[in-house]
Amino acid sequence: MSDRYDISKVRTVIDKYREPRFDDLISKQFIFLDRYVDDNKDTLDVGSLDGRIGWMILDCLDKKPATLHLTDYTNESVARCQHYVKEQESNFLKTFKLDIYEPDLNREYDTVIMLGNVLNLIYNPCHAGKVRQDGHLTRSLHNAVSLVKKGGILLFDIDLKFSMIENWQNPSQIKYKLRKSFNLDIIDSVMIDYRMHDSMLLCACRRRHDDRD
Ligand SMILES: C[S@@+](CC[C@H](N)C(=O)[O-])C[C@H]1O[C@@H](n2cnc3c(N)ncnc32)[C@H](O)[C@@H]1O
Repeated sequence: MSDRYDISKVRTVIDKYREPRFDDLISKQFIFLDRYVDDNKDTLDVGSLDGRIGWMILDCLDKKPATLHLTDYTNESVARCQHYVKEQESNFLKTFKLDIYEPDLNREYDTVIMLGNVLNLIYNPCHAGKVRQDGHLTRSLHNAVSLVKKGGILLFDIDLKFSMIENWQNPSQIKYKLRKSFNLDIIDSVMIDYRMHDSMLLCACRRRHDDRD
């Protein structure tokens, strides 16, 4: 990994992400964050856990978002992110609770990020004990799109094994659905190989100006 994309500069990262099996995932996430998270933009991270994605943006890529909101649906994760916020960041960085399955947030962002398998964990009954209805994936992705300004960017990944549950069967079918049902244009995508698991599709999409929903 180049010095620019050196995960050791990031203030906190759960241990597993330092293992070699995650090298491909981390380096591709860095590349997409570098390309699609711009300075002076309102930026939302969904499912932040310990805030790793936010810290990659600030500590390593040295971006200067206008606002950076780190969110999760458990109080524990929100507190965990907050623990790492530096005093001088409190003017643009906020942490709060947000459940992307039923978000209660009346605003839109230039950039919405949902990386690290957030979409696939939404229905996981082991996760915060929430058992979701059928269609969790579709509904959560629609909710995420609704938080993106028209013309703004959504970055997300999706594990192909889990996404089959809702018949999102392969990358070309997923991309077709994104265009057809979510008003998204795919501007970049790449497969991630994260060994021991099935592959993951990482996508950068733009919300269309001519929403029809
Ligand atoms: C594997 S972690 C990824 C954390 C972080 N994005 C990263 O890449 O390091 C997935 C996170 O998604 C969160 N999550 C799961 N369902 C969610 C939901 N409905 N709304 C918001 N966050 C959710 C979990 O609490 C967990 O912190």
